[in-house]
Amino acid sequence: MKLERALMAWAGASALALGVASLAQATDKGDGAPPAVNQGAVASTQERPVVDLRTWPTPVIDLSKLPASEQNRMIQWGQAIFTHTSEYLGPELNDRSKRFAGTNMACASCHRVAATLPFAAPLIGTYSVYPQFQPRFGRMVSLENRINLCFTHSLAGREIPDDSKEMKALVAYVEYLSRGVPKGAKIIGEKEMVVEEPKRAANLVRGEEVYKNQCLACHGADGRGLRVGTAGDTKGYTFPPLWGPDATSESASMFRILSTFQYVYVNMPFGQASWDRPALSKDDAYDVAGFVVSHPRQPREGDVGKDFSNPYDKPEDFPWGPYVDAFSEAQHKYGPFDPIRAEDAAARAKLKKEKEARGG
Ligand code: HEC
Ligand code: HEC
Repeated sequence: MKLERALMAWAGASALALGVASLAQATDKGDGAPPAVNQGAVASTQERPVVDLRTWPTPVIDLSKLPASEQNRMIQWGQAIFTHTSEYLGPELNDRSKRFAGTNMACASCHRVAATLPFAAPLIGTYSVYPQFQPRFGRMVSLENRINLCFTHSLAGREIPDDSKEMKALVAYVEYLSRGVPKGAKIIGEKEMVVEEPKRAANLVRGEEVYKNQCLACHGADGRGLRVGTAGDTKGYTFPPLWGPDATSESASMFRILSTFQYVYVNMPFGQASWDRPALSKDDAYDVAGFVVSHPRQPREGDVGKDFSNPYDKPEDFPWGPYVDAFSEAQHKYGPFDPIRAEDAAARAKLKKEKEARGG
């Protein structure tokens, strides 16, 4: 795909995203009241309400009509930080004390359309699911902790203080997106789409072919993406990097093949794929995900190197041992995964039995 065609696809899809926003805007009654968001029906199973983001009304993301108030200013500011992270907290800022992100990517480089797209890690409903157990750390974490996990891992940076204005603004935006979602709801469309991967190791040679034909025009021959302007201007990316010195860190979930596969399958190529109409075959998405994660990024250092210190909590595609099974790091990185899952399940069951035996 040529760059011009890629840019046209991008412009088209961006207009589409804006179209969605103005459609949602239609529910704004123009009476100065906040635009209506999340008025969708809440289905309910016996135990738990279910919110299906595929049919849930998209929260209005043009926030210019929110009535003036301190809280609404925070929400607007939170969205600005979310979509233009590098301009507020990026590594090229003159004020070193504000350099929290270690890349010029934005939160919205992954959480697409300002975190409102199903299966592109949307944050609709996220506000009330924390505190929650985080297997990476083996403990309960707050929403602020979880946001910081994306700062330290996905943005290869450092934690912003819980009481900083920037953190409060990001939390305000997540709260805004989550309005109307009942606490405890099962959310369909959160995170990535769970799709079964091909039952084999990823083929990196095929992956490179797919990359050249389907990704290179936007993300570049060197995986470094396309800057909005020029390096050093804090403006971030039109097309974010997939690897290299300004990409995520190697501790990010986007460095794991299965997360990348599930994300790419329903989201890429940009402008062509959507959750209800994947553009690549599963085989192509799997192989290209393998090719993408085969390239180095910012190393995992310090505390981020201690992730999943309990090996029983490790996802099957976490590429660093030790493991509770006997498979190599290479197999944990590129598959096949079913044999790993079977052994890990057996190891967990054994541990559970031992614990029960000890308990009485
Ligand atoms: C490189 C991609 C990437 C970037 C950049 C990124 N995230 Fe994430 N984030 C993810 C993925 C993927 C998940 C879901 C992981 C999972 O499966 O649990 C996630 C999860 C989250 C969650 C938890 C969602 C839930 O349902 O529990 C929050 C909150 C969050 N991110 C906020 C942010 C914020 C704020 C930023 C910017 C400061 C950011 N993220 C930047 C990829 C990214
Ligand atoms: C038309 C341009 C375009 C093409 C082609 C394209 N992407 Fe993207 N990609 C984007 C944009 C733009 C984003 C940021 C998300 C958004 O704005 O919706 C992105 C985000 C991503 C991300 C998450 C952010 C990151 O930097 O890690 C991954 C992973 C990704 N693309 C992989 C791929 C793969 C693999 C292909 C080929 C199968 C591909 N993309 C093809 C434009 C493109």
